[in-house]
Amino acid sequence: MSLEVRAARGEELHDLRRRVLRNNEPDASVSDERDDEASTIHRAVYVDDVLVACGTVYPSQSPLHPEVSTYELRFVATDFAAQGHGYGHLLMEALEQECRERGVEELWANGRDSALGFYDREGWRRIPGSEHASPYTGLPHTVIWKPLA
Ligand SMILES: CC(C)(COP(=O)(O)OP(=O)(O)OC[C@H]1O[C@@H](n2cnc3c(N)ncnc32)[C@H](O)[C@@H]1OP(=O)(O)O)[C@@H](O)C(=O)NCCC(=O)NCCS
Repeated sequence: MSLEVRAARGEELHDLRRRVLRNNEPDASVSDERDDEASTIHRAVYVDDVLVACGTVYPSQSPLHPEVSTYELRFVATDFAAQGHGYGHLLMEALEQECRERGVEELWANGRDSALGFYDREGWRRIPGSEHASPYTGLPHTVIWKPLA
């Protein structure tokens, strides 16, 4: 088995984003207007050259610390059959490493409540009182963040 974590283009990730995060709805939004910007970082995990996990970070002001260099994490997904095998963890390590190399000090995200246990293990923190429904899916989310220093 070959395992690789590497950069990807946003459009390579649309299918996985749609199936795992948007219930495979054909009309759902699976892109971000920042996807093709040079400052955006996409990372993808491939097993035997098959995409199994992806995630993207975009420069974005922190909801907590507007004075520090911060990126927003979006579209974190591991394909259904590949969940629970550590690929999400590998993905987060790769994104965080690249962010640190670029001098990013903090990450934030709208974390899906059903995934908060995953983010807890990855060292993220929840912002009390930030619980809300996602405008994209209607699912419960909480604002979470992680210092990278
Ligand atoms: C959340 C998600 C990205 C995790 O990816 P994954 O590849 O399954 O995660 P890993 O196998 O690397 O798990 C790392 C750790 O987190 C735990 N974990 C994973 N998903 C979890 C969840 N939903 N709740 C609680 N813990 C979770 C694992 O048990 C593992 O713990 P361990 O280190 O003690 O063994 C994946 O389950 C997924 O795509 N879910 C559906 C989409 C989603 O919710 N995305 C996040 C949107 S904000």
